[in-house]
Formats: sequence, C-alpha cells, structure tokens
Amino acid sequence: MKAVAVFPRTKEVRVIEQEVPRMAEPDQVKLRILDIGLCGTDKEICAFAYGTPPAGSDYLVIGHESLGEVIEVGPAASRVNVGDLVVTTVRRPCPHPECRPCRAGYPDFCITGDYTERGIKGAHGFMTEEVVDHERYMHVVPPELRDVAVLTEPLTIAEKAANQARQIVDRLPWLKRDLQEEARRHNPTAVVLGAGPVGLLGAMKLMAAGWQTFVYALAPAPNPSSDIVEAIGGQYGSQGRIAVEKQKALFGHIHLIYEATGVSRLAFEAWKLLGPNSVFIFTGVPSLKGPIEVDTDLLMRNIVLKNQIIFGTVNASSEHFDEAIRDIGVFHQLWPGTLRALITSRSAPEEAPGVLLGNIGGIKNVVTFETSGGATEREQSR
Ligand code: BGC
Repeated sequence: MKAVAVFPRTKEVRVIEQEVPRMAEPDQVKLRILDIGLCGTDKEICAFAYGTPPAGSDYLVIGHESLGEVIEVGPAASRVNVGDLVVTTVRRPCPHPECRPCRAGYPDFCITGDYTERGIKGAHGFMTEEVVDHERYMHVVPPELRDVAVLTEPLTIAEKAANQARQIVDRLPWLKRDLQEEARRHNPTAVVLGAGPVGLLGAMKLMAAGWQTFVYALAPAPNPSSDIVEAIGGQYGSQGRIAVEKQKALFGHIHLIYEATGVSRLAFEAWKLLGPNSVFIFTGVPSLKGPIEVDTDLLMRNIVLKNQIIFGTVNASSEHFDEAIRDIGVFHQLWPGTLRALITSRSAPEEAPGVLLGNIGGIKNVVTFETSGGATEREQSR
C-alpha cells in the first residue's frame, strides 16, 4: 500500500510502498484512511526542521490529522464497529513509571518528553491507505460529519485551551456569572491572532459560546478567511484595516487572546495590549530563529498589576477529541457551508509532496485516499 514519507537524512519527501499493517493485539482496530489534513507542523517536518522517524527507521510516514473508516475489529475491542468513522488521537504516553500525567492517561501533559506522536515524533503517521491502532485512541464520528470530520484534530487544540481558560475564568465570579447567563448583559470579548485553521476553528468555538470575537491576521480583507470570520458573525481586522490607536481601544477590553500564528514577535506585541484580569493563550510553535528585543519590564508590570495569566497549550487528551467531535456537529448545524469552506483543497496522496513543499495557499488542504487515480479537487479561493 502507498504512504507519504519524509527521509530526513536524504532530505526527500515521497510516496513509498509499505506493507499492509497487521492486527497484533486483541484490542486493536484496523482503519481504511479517508482524509488527512495538512498543517504547519507537516510543512516543518517536510522542511526537515521538525519530526523524528521511529527508532530504527530512516523515514517517517507523516499525517496526524486523520479520518478513517473501521474495516476490522479485534476480539477485545467493544466500542467501535466495522463501518464506523473514527478520528484517532496523535500522542502516545512515554514509558516512564514516574510520569504521572502519562500514567493517568494524559500524555498531552507528559513531563519526560519521551512521548511519541503519530506522524510527528517517533511513530509513523496516518498518511497511508490502512492503519492499525488500539481502540482506546479512536473516537467515533457521526456519519453526517463525513466531509468535515478531518477538522477534529485541529479543533482539539481550542478544546484543550477552552477547558483551561474556563478554570481560569472561574476566579472572576462576575465574568463566570455573565458567561452562564442565558440572555447575556455582557458578552466577553476575545481576540484570535491568526486566520489559519487553528485560529478560525478557535473563533468558531468562541462565537458558538457567545464571545464577541475579533480575528486579527496579516492578510488584508477581503480574503477566504475574512469571509469565514464574517459569515460566523465575528469581526476581521488586519494591520491595514485597523489603525493602531483603534487596536488599543479594542484590545483594552479584551478578556482573552488566543494566539494561533506561531509568530512570536506579533504575539508579544499583542500581549502588551492585553487588558486587566485577562488570559493570553499561546498555541503556535515557532521555528527557532534569533532572539528579538522584548520590553520585559512592561510585560512583567502588566502581568502583576493587571492580574494577567499567560499559558501555552499543546496537543489534547481523549476528552478534548470527544468535545471537538461534538463541536464540529454544532458548527455544522450553525454554519454548514462555512465550516466546509475551511477545506480549500483535496488532493490525491501522489500530490501530497507537491502540496507540502509548494505554496498552494488556501486554508485547510486535505489529502484524500478515497478517490483513486489522482483526482484532485481544488475549491476556488476567492
Ligand atoms: C499537532 C499536535 C502536536 C503538536 C506538537 C501539532 O501540529 O496538532 O498533536 O502535539 O503539533 O508536535
């Protein structure tokens, strides 16, 4: 069967032939892969700046944002059935007994760094025709979400962030009350930095929960991302469209900033504008460039004098996958066409290296194993 792999030593990205995986343990399940989403992490891996092949292998099969169909179920697997659609989690626990998060089922909080991630670190990924994994890592998706379920994994980032932000908001009884009110007197305000899939899915999560949401990105409107922001009732701004003075007034009332750009300079600039009692959430993983100058006194004064909380978040636990699937269903009901518009291309696996190494633009590019013979669909980016 074919798979898309990177060879870090020879610096190649290509389609390879692999043996079909075999079921080796009774709680395993075999999937036929349908869709694989591509993200910035895959691009970094294909630029050989990130990613590690499994021990003893000179290549890594990529792909971690997946949707598959169950084709075989081991005798000890009881939750999934042949024909179910499933999304599989990415991170697997480290082996160390002293890592309490991994032992407790939360490898997304692993403390040793020896976790593996399918398609990223030490384990082959899902960009291949068939995959075998343990049932406990699989999450069933309702069939009506077939077209959009590949967006689940990038949404899990926002789900994990939201879960932590909720606990932080609990320290502010008046804001907690406002958020619980059916007919809101006050809608808290959020700024999302970045209008890629992680930013846009984060904005959908915030809008669906009643937050007044601004998405701030570099590309001037109109563009496909700004159309999506406007279609869900958010407001889109870019440097060209919002004057700096106006940004200050706007950001002064912000309760939460959700960073989804991986551009540290922009993030630290925006952090300066964070309001009192507010939360700044980092999700981007910048490639390591040189140091830049940051006004540390100002930031530290703000953190203390304004009771600010800054946190970073990576990966997601099993609960967040379930929440993401539920929310994909909610977004599908609220904004069906708009959710689908996040997926701007579907390419055959043979075209994946070109898509990953080139610059085809768009929002979420997907590799699909459903159509054979290289049929490609590119939705028109307006
Ligand atoms: C993936 C996460 C992963 C992170 C760091 C992201 O692109 O979505 O699952 O933990 O990269 O490797």
